[in-house]
Amino acid sequence: MTTPLCAARLRCELLDTPLGVDVPAPRLSWEVHGDGRERRQTAYRVRVASAPALLDGEAADLWDSGRVGSGDSAHVAYAGVPLRSAQSAWWSVQLWDESDRAGAPSSPARFEMGLLSPADWTASWIGAGARPRTHDGGRACPQLRGTFHLRRPVRRARAYVSALGVYELWCNGERAGDERLLPGWTDYRRRIPYTVHDLTALLHQGDNALGAVLGDGWYCGHVAFNGRRNFWGRSPSLCAQVLVEYDDGSREWLGTDSSWRLAFGAVLASDMQMGETYDARRELRGWSTPAYDDSGWRPVSVLRRPAAPLESRRCEPVRVTETLAPVAVTRTGAGTHLVDLGQNMVGWVRLRLHRLPRGTRIRLRFAEMLDGNGRIYTENYRAARCTDTYVARGDAVEEWEPSFTFRGFRYVEVSGHRGDLDAAQVEGRVAHTDAPVAGGFECSDPMLNRLWHNVLWGQRGNFLEVPTDCPQRDERLGWMGDAQIFAPTATLNMDVAAFYAKWLQDVADAQREDGAFADVAPEPPDCGTSASAPAWADAGVIVPWVMWERYADRALLQRQYPSMRRWVDHVHAANPDLLWRNGRGNDYGDWLSVEADTPKEVLATAFFARSAELLARSAGVLGIEEDARRYGALHDRIRSAFIGAHVDADGRVEGGTQCAHVLALRFGLVPPQLRERTAAHLVADIEKRDWHLSTGFVSVGHLLPVLDEMGRLDVAWRLLLQDSFPSWLFSIRHGATTIWERWDGWTPEKGFQTWHMNSFNHYSFGSVAEWIYDRAGGIALDPGAAGFARVLVRPRPGGGVTWARAWHRSIRGVVRTAWRVEDGVLHLDLEVPANTTARVVLPDGAGGERSVEAGSGAHRFSAPLSG
Ligand code: BGC
Repeated sequence: MTTPLCAARLRCELLDTPLGVDVPAPRLSWEVHGDGRERRQTAYRVRVASAPALLDGEAADLWDSGRVGSGDSAHVAYAGVPLRSAQSAWWSVQLWDESDRAGAPSSPARFEMGLLSPADWTASWIGAGARPRTHDGGRACPQLRGTFHLRRPVRRARAYVSALGVYELWCNGERAGDERLLPGWTDYRRRIPYTVHDLTALLHQGDNALGAVLGDGWYCGHVAFNGRRNFWGRSPSLCAQVLVEYDDGSREWLGTDSSWRLAFGAVLASDMQMGETYDARRELRGWSTPAYDDSGWRPVSVLRRPAAPLESRRCEPVRVTETLAPVAVTRTGAGTHLVDLGQNMVGWVRLRLHRLPRGTRIRLRFAEMLDGNGRIYTENYRAARCTDTYVARGDAVEEWEPSFTFRGFRYVEVSGHRGDLDAAQVEGRVAHTDAPVAGGFECSDPMLNRLWHNVLWGQRGNFLEVPTDCPQRDERLGWMGDAQIFAPTATLNMDVAAFYAKWLQDVADAQREDGAFADVAPEPPDCGTSASAPAWADAGVIVPWVMWERYADRALLQRQYPSMRRWVDHVHAANPDLLWRNGRGNDYGDWLSVEADTPKEVLATAFFARSAELLARSAGVLGIEEDARRYGALHDRIRSAFIGAHVDADGRVEGGTQCAHVLALRFGLVPPQLRERTAAHLVADIEKRDWHLSTGFVSVGHLLPVLDEMGRLDVAWRLLLQDSFPSWLFSIRHGATTIWERWDGWTPEKGFQTWHMNSFNHYSFGSVAEWIYDRAGGIALDPGAAGFARVLVRPRPGGGVTWARAWHRSIRGVVRTAWRVEDGVLHLDLEVPANTTARVVLPDGAGGERSVEAGSGAHRFSAPLSG
C-alpha cells in the first residue's frame, strides 16, 4: 500500500523563498513525492494566505485554487486577490493521486512581493561625487551611512536596495546577507536591479544605523576589453529604503536621503578586472553602528533618479559556495610564496595574517597556469591586472578578503610576507551565481570523470551574473555563441532556469531596432562588439527554445517570442534568396576549430534554417498557428536553398569539414536518402585525422550526438576518450582542472599559445557533457515532453566503460540511473520521480533496440548487448 502523494520543494518564480517578487501573478512550482510505482498527480489545490496560521484552517485569505484536475506541477500562476507591494504570502499545495486519494497539504512555503510600482520608491539616490585615486588610477570606494530611531519593537524589517555599481549593505555593525556583487549586472540604461534584504534580526527599538560600501562593479569599473571602463557612468550611487513593521502592526518607511554622510576608508580601490587595494590602517571601525562619531564625515550628494525602471533581481545571487585549502605553499624568494589551490577556480582569496608589522604591504597576483620556470603565467590576463594589495594594521591576527573583485586563477603569488606562510593562511573563495547543482555523473573511467568535473567547474567559474566566456582576462562578457552551445549542458549541471530567464531579458534588451541580436548580452554601450554574427546572435532563438525544452517555461517563451521573430525576419529581409550572405556582423565561423575552416555562408545558412525551425516550433507551442505555418514554410525553403547550394549529390557538404557535416545532419539539412553518405564523409574526415576531432565552438556540442544518431556510437566513444591533440582528454592529460578555451592553449611542442586569447577556463568545449549525461549516463530529455515530463533513458555503453551512474534533478524531481556491463549483459537501475514517466530504450541483443515505458519509482532492467 502506498502513502498519499505530497508536494515538496515548493518554489515561487523558480526560486526558493524569494523576497522581492515583482510580477503580479507569481508562478508556483513543486515536486511530487510519493513511494511505490506509477505514481501520478491527478489534481492539486493551492492555497495562499497572508499568515501561516491561516493555512491551517479553511480560511486561506489570498487564494484558494480549489481542486484543479491537472497533472501540472510547475509554473502554476497565482490567481487570487491582487498582491500588494512588500506583502508576505505563505502557500501550500495538496495533491490527489492516481486513485483520487487526497494527500495532506504540504508544509507551507513563503514568498514576498517586492515594490510593484515606481511610486513605491521614495528614497533618494545618493553618491560620492569626486573620489580619491590610487597611483594606478584606482578609485576609492565610498562608505555611506545613515541613522534612524525606531519607536517600538520590530516585527519585520526589509531593506530594498539598488545601486549603480555594486554594494555591500551593513546594519548596526554587521554585514546584511551573504550575497556578493549586488545588485547584479544588466544594461543599466534599460533596467536596474534591486535586492531585498531581511533586516528583522539586525534592527531593534531605539537607535540604528545602516551603511553601504559602494564599488565600481560593471557600471563604471573595467568591463570588456582594452582596459576600458565607465561604460554606463563614472561613479557609483545607491538607493535604499527600509520598511519597518512594528509589533503593533504599524509600519514605517525610511530611506537614503540628504541626511546620509560619507567617508572614504580602507578600500582604496576595487575593480573587478584590476583587483582591490585595501589599507587596513584606514578602517573606519564601527562605522555602521549608531554610536559611531561621523562628525568628520561629509554630506552625500543627492543625485537625479535614473531613468530606467528598478526591477527585483530575478535569479539567484552570487555567493561564495566553497572555500578551497591550498594543496601546496612554496617559498619562491625573499618574502615571496607561491600558493597552489589545486583547482582553477573563480573568486578571490581570504588571507589570515599573524603579527605583521603595521603598514606591511602584501601583494597578491594570480594565475591560471605556471610557465616553464614555475612562475605565474599572466600574459593571458591581458589588460586585467588582477592584483590585490593588503596593507596590514599590525594586529595579532588580521583576516581579510576583498569585496568587489574576482578573477579566474589556480595559483596565487603572495609577496611581502617575510615569515613562513602556511596553508591555513590563504584560502580560495569560490564565487558564482548560486544556482543549485542539479546533476552528477561518475563512471569506471577516471579521465572521463575528470572531464565531467572540469565542465562543472567551467560552469561554476563562468556563471557569474551572466554566462560569461571567461573569468580571467579583460573580457568576461556574455558571449551569445558560447551561451547557446553550452545551454543544454548547463541545465543538466545546475538548475539555471532563473539564471537564463534573467539573461534572456538581457538578450532582448541588447536587440537592435532593426531586429539584430547583439553578439554579447548585456552589451556595454559602444564596447566594440558587433551584432548579427551567425550562431552568436541566433542564441536569441536557440536559448529560449532550450529553456522551453528543459523547464517547460511557457511564459518565458512567450516573453522572448517577439524578439525571436524579429531576429528571423531581420535575417530574412537581408537575405531574400535564403542563403545567409548579407549582414553577418563579425562572423566568427566555427570559432577555434583546428585546421578546418568551414565556409562561413554554409554555417550561417545552417543557423538561419535552425532559427526559423525553432521559431516555428515555438509558435506551435504558444498556439500561434499562423506563425507556425509561415515559419515552418520558411524553414523548408531555407533547407531547400541550403541543399541546393551546399550539399552535393554524394551527400558531401561544401567545405567538407566535420563542422559542415555535423551541422547539416543535426539541423536536418541533408535529404534523407543522403544522410548515410553525409555521415560517411564525416567519419572519413575523423579517420583521416587519425580519429581526432577538428570542431570549434559552434559544432563541438553536436559532434557526438550526430555520430551516435548516425549509428557510429563507436566513433563517438573513440573521440570522447581520445587523449592526444586535439581532444577533450588532451588538456586533462596535461593537468587541466577546467575546460580550456582552445584545443591548443598549451602543447608540449609549442608551450603556451601566443595569440592574444588563451583562457584556461572557457566552457564552450564542455558542451560535450550533454552527451555524457544523455548517453553515457543515460538520462535524456524525451523530445516532445518538455520539462522532463517523460525522460528518455537510453544508456549507450562503449569505450570500455564498464559502469556509470548519473542523476539529474529536473523540475519534476530527481531521476537516477546506474548501469553496469557484466558478461555481455547491461544491467540498469533506474529511479523515476513521481508524476513522471520514462521511455527506456535498451539493446535487444540482436543489434537493435527495444523500448519499454516505465512509470515512477525504482526499476531494474537487464539486456544482452549485441555480439
Ligand atoms: C570570446 C569568445 C567569443 C568570441 C567571439 C572571444 O574573445 O572569448 O568566447 O565567443 O570572442 O568569437
